Amino acid sequence: MYRTLDSGVILPASRAERPVVIAIDGPAASGKSSTSKWVAERLGVHHADSGALYRAATASRLRAPGALGTSESWTEQSVLEAARAVSFVPGKTSFEVRINDAPADEELRGAGVTANVSLVARMPGVRAWVNERIRECARGSSIVVDGRDMGTAVFPDAALKIFLIADPWERARRRLVQRLERSPSEDEIAVETDDIVKRDAKDATQTQQASDAILIDTTYLTQAEQVDRIVALARAVGG
Ligand code: CDP
Repeated sequence: MYRTLDSGVILPASRAERPVVIAIDGPAASGKSSTSKWVAERLGVHHADSGALYRAATASRLRAPGALGTSESWTEQSVLEAARAVSFVPGKTSFEVRINDAPADEELRGAGVTANVSLVARMPGVRAWVNERIRECARGSSIVVDGRDMGTAVFPDAALKIFLIADPWERARRRLVQRLERSPSEDEIAVETDDIVKRDAKDATQTQQASDAILIDTTYLTQAEQVDRIVALARAVGG
């Protein structure tokens, strides 16, 4: 006996009432968040971006007194204190980050946050704080989550695990198109590639491909193609 959810996901009857978690992980700028958002929309479920929480904790700490010193002097306690101003609220299709109850999307993508977020993400207490927020989002409902360790540390039993990779040059080009809203020059791509490779190195320990994850190299795929592929895999999960 099978049952089809409104989203089109087909589940065996015994699992039909159990929420489905789809975990999408991968390195910097591999397209996790935008892909996850589209996949969630197609499946009619919510999306939660764990990277946005790491970025929000960092942004909130940057607003706090003493933020202008080197981030190496930040203590885990000071970051967790700053993170108390962060909330993660269900929007129409994604959970949205707020700092002091206000949206902070642009700030989260700013250079200051990007430069300091890897250090913040290495703090065990901050990882526990993010993981708990993300697990709360999944309590009782199906969800698409994205990050670097969703399929390992946070949802080892996820119904579907995807690990997205792409050539660093292509990741840099996409990130610049998104940020600049025009075609970047070769020199601009070279600088961004360097930044992405450096961040990959800083994030190496927390970027984990689950042994049962499906690896998708998106270098030569369009976003629509990668979304189609993941939606098809999600539909096959219970079928
Ligand atoms: O979009 P992009 O890949 O540039 O990064 P992000 O998903 O917004 O994540 C920002 C940062 O948060 C990463 O560089 C990691 O340091 C950290 N992160 C993590 O450690 N674990 C996660 N599950 C998600 C993000």
